[in-house]
Amino acid sequence: MISDKMNKALNEQVNAELFSSYLYLGMSAWFSEKSLNGFASWMRVQAQEEMSHAMKIYNFILERGGNIQLTTIEKPESEWGSPLEVVQEVANHEAKVTGLVNDLVDVALEQRDHATNIFLQWFVTEQVEEEASVGDVLERAKMIGDDSAGMFALDMEMAKREFTEDEE
Ligand SMILES: [Fe+2]
Ligand SMILES: [Fe+2]
Repeated sequence: MISDKMNKALNEQVNAELFSSYLYLGMSAWFSEKSLNGFASWMRVQAQEEMSHAMKIYNFILERGGNIQLTTIEKPESEWGSPLEVVQEVANHEAKVTGLVNDLVDVALEQRDHATNIFLQWFVTEQVEEEASVGDVLERAKMIGDDSAGMFALDMEMAKREFTEDEE
């Protein structure tokens, strides 16, 4: 069993991951409307990944005998000034999520919940990867600036990413 406090904190993270998915899906649509199809595809994969993160936590809560409480998912921002602005927001958002994951680990340690602590380590590592991959895109987008030829070249590269269900 997990404590009520841990259960509540994990449910909040399910919501945060679903919000991330929703935010990225909206960004994917924005890119599609701009015919930046590589970015659109990349963001769609990102949205799928966030959904899989939510489900990973959802499954863990059930496995530990906790209860699921689904709540309202906040409406995400959907107006953006440029591709760079979107990518910057993804980077900011991932940094925020890393903070949430760290807070969850703090709760697990405080509750002496070793099982949840071990479970959360996957997310700690995942955040390192996510911050690195979006950081890379952000640096390139900054270098490109207003050069549309550069942006289309990056767009073509962004199309290469595919969704892979992580092995468990
Ligand atoms: Fe996530
Ligand atoms: Fe993420």
